[in-house]
Amino acid sequence: MDIEQRPTEMVKFYSGNSLPLELHKVRVVQKLHLLPIEKRLEAIERAGFNSFLLSTRETYLDMLTDSGCNAMSDRQTAAMMVADDAYAGSQSYERMEVQVKNMFAKEYILPVHQGRAAENIVGQAFVHEGDQIPMNYHFTTTKAHFEINGGTLHEIYTDEALKVKSTHPFKGNMDINRLKDVIETYGAARIPFIRLEASTNLIGGQPFSMENMRQVRKVADDTNIMIVLDASLIGENAWFIKQRESGYAQKTMGEIIREMSDLSDLVYFSARKLSSSRGGIICTNRFDLYDQMRDLVPLYEGFLTYGGMSVREIEAMAVGLEETLDNTMISQSPSFIDYFVRKTDGLGLPVVTPGGALGAHIDAGSFLSHIPQQEYPAGALVAAFYLISGIRGMERGTISSVRLEDGSDLLADIELMRLAFPRRVFTLSQVEYAIDRLKWLFDNRRLVGGLEWEKEPKVLRFFVGRLKARGDWPVKLMAKFREDFGDSL
Ligand code: F0G
Repeated sequence: MDIEQRPTEMVKFYSGNSLPLELHKVRVVQKLHLLPIEKRLEAIERAGFNSFLLSTRETYLDMLTDSGCNAMSDRQTAAMMVADDAYAGSQSYERMEVQVKNMFAKEYILPVHQGRAAENIVGQAFVHEGDQIPMNYHFTTTKAHFEINGGTLHEIYTDEALKVKSTHPFKGNMDINRLKDVIETYGAARIPFIRLEASTNLIGGQPFSMENMRQVRKVADDTNIMIVLDASLIGENAWFIKQRESGYAQKTMGEIIREMSDLSDLVYFSARKLSSSRGGIICTNRFDLYDQMRDLVPLYEGFLTYGGMSVREIEAMAVGLEETLDNTMISQSPSFIDYFVRKTDGLGLPVVTPGGALGAHIDAGSFLSHIPQQEYPAGALVAAFYLISGIRGMERGTISSVRLEDGSDLLADIELMRLAFPRRVFTLSQVEYAIDRLKWLFDNRRLVGGLEWEKEPKVLRFFVGRLKARGDWPVKLMAKFREDFGDSL
């Protein structure tokens, strides 16, 4: 293999261990704060037991998300210095357009300020009242945008998808027979598109296989329905195809991504995940689709050559896209996640296997099996883990779901705490710290109790909603921490 393209890999140590070795060096650093547990208790109470409402000043490791917080490369920051300020016709935009065309081989490109802005435009252009939209799984903002336009989502995952412990390499696959059933039941005329999400976020960053995508394409061709690909995590999905699917080991990242793009009629992505701190793209080879979306961009985003992004962000995105094709860069986060997942699995913790993209996912339903789903075990786990470690994860369970018209919660299929691994941000000793504190919490899990709402927003309630602990379990958990760790942070 080209020496420049070596993946971040498990390097054998003389001692017998194997560790994922960082193939980058740290050149710009940011000071972190690890507050004493008493301060962390104050912070999580002030934040309404919602990790979105914590400040990074109160956070040691920010594992909330990879979105907009992957480490930037020296080449990206350098490119930002040569950005061409212009409202229209900026050369920065032209450079980015070249990269998008190179990567996705799509002719018509629309810029937007982030992923959900792309969903707004795709939703407004193609989703109408009564439409049915099959997908491998929803993402929160996707669901909100498609439903607001009158669409109904159908999640067509396989039996493996929601199994916490699995060895299946492609848990993000669609169930082809169920897809055919949904099309037969509702009729192709009511289905504007089939949506595939690369590295399916909410089920643990799990990829789909190229074989599965080809099968979906076949169904789409037979029924004359288009395929929309959410490519926000396409780099990692392509990486897993290269690692796990037969026939792909020798293909380049560029070839695999291109094949996925060729199987799609329309591709959109959040550049906050894919390559930079802001931005997004919609692209297609079909002029008719482009034409239906184009006028919405100046209306909601900005002129067609910036779409709500600054030229500096556009430059960073262009270089970031190019770097996505580099094995060394793209494999870093999955290899650290894999290390975390194997180690916590070995310690008997209920972590989703196999490791996927963007983060490690802990099954809060079994971690805190004594807490009923109506008392939000995933939210409770995130709050408890922050309290005892200063690490901020994200709730991906019933709090991230919605309230039904009858007043009850739509219970999540699976209660997860996500610990994101933004690319090239954490060191292995920080990962070891996370593993160690999580094991302590598991051994003391009976001390953790549930949560209840204090203030619940109507839309996307998980972002700014406030909750409180049921009973005084946080104080008891803190007391046990002090007993075991003394004065240590
Ligand atoms: N699609 C997927 C698959 C995503 O993961 C996200 C964002 C979006 C669309 C929306 O993009 O944030 O730029 O508007 N995921 C983030 C996360 C928020 O933390 O997983 P956005």
